[in-house]
Amino acid sequence: MNEGQAKKRINKLREEIHFHNYRYYVLDEPVISDPEYDQLMRELEALERQFPDLITPTSPTQRVGAPPLEKFEEVRHTIPMLSLANAFEEEEVKEFDGRVKRFLGIPRDVEYCTELKIDGVAVELIYEDGYFTTGSTRGDGFVGEDVTQNLKTVKSIPLSLIPWKERRLPSRLGARGEVYLPIKAFQELNQQRERSGESVFANPRNAAAGSLRQLDSSITAKRPLDIFCHGVGQVSGQSFETHWVLLETLHHWGLKVNPHRKRCRKIEEVLEFHREMDELREKLPYEIDGVVIKVNSLRLQEALGTIARSPRWALAFKFKPKQVTTRIRDIIVNVGRTGALTPTAVMDPVRIGGVEVSRATLHNQDEIDKKDVRIGDTVVIQRAGDVIPEVVMVVFEKRTGKEKKFRLPDQCPVCGAEVEKPKGKKDKKEMAVARCTGISCPAKLKETIIHFASRDALNIEGLGEKIIEQLVDQGLIKDYADLYALTLDDFLTLERMGEKLAGNILAAIQKSKKTSLDRLIYALGILHVGEHIAKLLAREFSSLEELAQTSLEKLMTIKGIGEEIAFSIVTFFQQKGNQKVIQKLKERGVEYPARPLRPSPTSRIWEGQTFVFTGALKTLSREEAESKVESMGGRASSSVSKKTDFVVVGEDPGSKFDKAQALGVKIITEDEFLRMLQPDAR
Ligand code: IVH
Repeated sequence: MNEGQAKKRINKLREEIHFHNYRYYVLDEPVISDPEYDQLMRELEALERQFPDLITPTSPTQRVGAPPLEKFEEVRHTIPMLSLANAFEEEEVKEFDGRVKRFLGIPRDVEYCTELKIDGVAVELIYEDGYFTTGSTRGDGFVGEDVTQNLKTVKSIPLSLIPWKERRLPSRLGARGEVYLPIKAFQELNQQRERSGESVFANPRNAAAGSLRQLDSSITAKRPLDIFCHGVGQVSGQSFETHWVLLETLHHWGLKVNPHRKRCRKIEEVLEFHREMDELREKLPYEIDGVVIKVNSLRLQEALGTIARSPRWALAFKFKPKQVTTRIRDIIVNVGRTGALTPTAVMDPVRIGGVEVSRATLHNQDEIDKKDVRIGDTVVIQRAGDVIPEVVMVVFEKRTGKEKKFRLPDQCPVCGAEVEKPKGKKDKKEMAVARCTGISCPAKLKETIIHFASRDALNIEGLGEKIIEQLVDQGLIKDYADLYALTLDDFLTLERMGEKLAGNILAAIQKSKKTSLDRLIYALGILHVGEHIAKLLAREFSSLEELAQTSLEKLMTIKGIGEEIAFSIVTFFQQKGNQKVIQKLKERGVEYPARPLRPSPTSRIWEGQTFVFTGALKTLSREEAESKVESMGGRASSSVSKKTDFVVVGEDPGSKFDKAQALGVKIITEDEFLRMLQPDAR
C-alpha cells in the first residue's frame, strides 16, 4: 500500500471507529462486536506504525500515551464559565419564575428546560472543524487549566464530532459539561487505594477532580471518567433558538447529553420534575445534587443576561438531604477490611428516607472534635444518596451534662497493633483515616494479601480474591509470608480446586519470589506507600533492611516524601509483628536483584535524561534495564515523545521504534546501552 492509499484507508478507519465509539460510549448501543471493533483498531494501529507521518493528535489511537506534564498550562475561556444561583425550597423557585417574568415584562408563562445537576467537575471542550483540540477546567471561571491529555482518555468524549445533516458542524465549538466518576468506579478506586495504603477520596466529585488533575495522563486513563454535556460557550457559524434544541444537536454531533431532561411549560411542571428526580436519585449510577432550571428560549436568556457571575436565566434547585433527630447510645470503632478505624455512632433506631437505621458514621476523630459529638448526645443525622447515614450536628440544647467524650484508641481493637492517626492538616478533599498498622491483623488480612498478590505488587497470577478468602478462612495463612509455605495438599482442601490449577498457582507463587525491591516495598502494604513512593524508596535504599533501619529525618530528605509518609514508614518497620513477617519472607526465599552501590552524585550522570525501551532485550529484563537507568539518575518512560533522549531497541521493536524515527529521537542498541553503563564511558 502506498502512502496515498494508506491515508484513505486510515481516514475511513478513523471515521468508523469514531462512530462505533459514539454508539458504545455515548449511546450505549453498540452495533458491532468487541472483536470486530478491536480488529478495526488493530488495522489502524498497524497502518499508523507503517506511516507514522499520518498520525494525528485526534486519531483514536492517541487517547493514551502522552508523556507526563511538568505543570498544566493556563487556558483563558473565550466566554466566561459562570456559576449558578441555588435554591432549596419550592417557594424560592416560584420567586425565581416571578423575577424572570417581571424582568422580561411578560405576564404569560415562560418555558423552561430542566436537567439534572451532575455532581462532578466543570470542563470546556473546544472542537475546531469538528476535532477536539483543547479541554480545560473551569478554574476561576475566566482562566482554567489545560487538561486536554487527561480529557482525551475519557472514552465518551469524542476526539472527532459526527457530522449531522440537519446542522453543519461549527468551525469552533466550546462544549461545556460535567466530568464525573460513576459511583461504582469511585467505590472500586477507593477500595484499591485503601488496599495500597493510599488516602481515600471523600466522594466521587473529589475523585473526579483528583483524576483530572493528574500530570501523568496514564493515571487518569485508569479511572473510568465519564461526561455529560449541558451547554456551550463559543459557537461559530451556528445559532440555536432554544436550549432544548441545542442539547439535541450536541447529542447528534456525538457528545454525551444526559437523557433526563424535560421541557416545562410552567413552573409547576418544574417542581414536579424536581420531585421525580429526587426519587430517581438513589437509583442513578452517578451522583446528582439537584436539578438545573434554564429558560428555554436563547433569545430570552440573552435578554435576561447575568448578575454577579450567575445567569439570571438559570437556577440550581438543590435536593434537600433527608435528616432526622435521634440519640447516640454509644460510639464503637469498626476496623474495616482495609484496616481503617471508623468511629461509628450506635443510636436509638429511626426511620430515614424509608429505611430504619441505628448506626451512623462519624468518619474520624477530626469530625468528632469539630462537631463536638459525645456519647449520649441528641444529634441530627442524614442520608445523602445511598451512602450510609452520617451525623450532621449535635442538638446542643438537649445536652444534660452527662454526655461522655470519646477518643479513638491508640491500639487496634482487633489485633493490638499501633494505630496510625492522621497528622497535620489534610487536603480537605481526602479523608483523614486512622489505620491499624499490623500486617497480620485479622480484620484486614484478606485485603493485605489481595494487595500483596496483585499485578503491580508481587503479581501472583491465578491467586484471586476467592482463593485468598478461602485460604484465610481456613486458617492456612496468617500473613503473606505464609503463602510461601503452602503445599499442594493445602490447595486441594479448597473448593473447586483441581491439581492442575493448584499446580499453576503454586508455580506462580514460586515465580513471585524473584521480584524487584520497589515491587516488594509496594507489596508490603505500608500506609501511604503507593507505587510511586515505593519506586522513590527503591531508588534511595539498596535493601529492605536498609529501609527498615532508616530514620524519619533521612526519609524526609527524599524529594516527594513528606512527614506523614515518612512517619508511616518508620512506624511500619518498628512493629515487632511486621519485622517478623518480613524476616519470614526473606527466609522463605523472596528476593530482588542486589543493586550495586547507591548512585553517588557523580554517578548520576544521566540526570534529566529520558530512556524508552522497545522490543526484547537479550541480556537484561525490562525491569533491570529500567532500574539501571534510574540508578544513574535517569528516567525510564514507557512512551516516546520529542523529549525522549534515547530509545533502546531490542528484538522485534514495536511502534515506539517507528515513532522515535519519525521524531528524530536517538536510537541505540542494547550493546550500545550496556557500553554507556561502563565506568570508562561515564
Ligand atoms: S449550566 C451558567 N447545567 O454546576 C450556567 N451546570 O454552579 C452554567 N452543573 O459549575 C451551568 N450540572 O458545571 C449547568 N445540567 C447542568 C449542570 C451544571 C452540573 C455544574 C456546572 C457549574 C455548577 C453550577
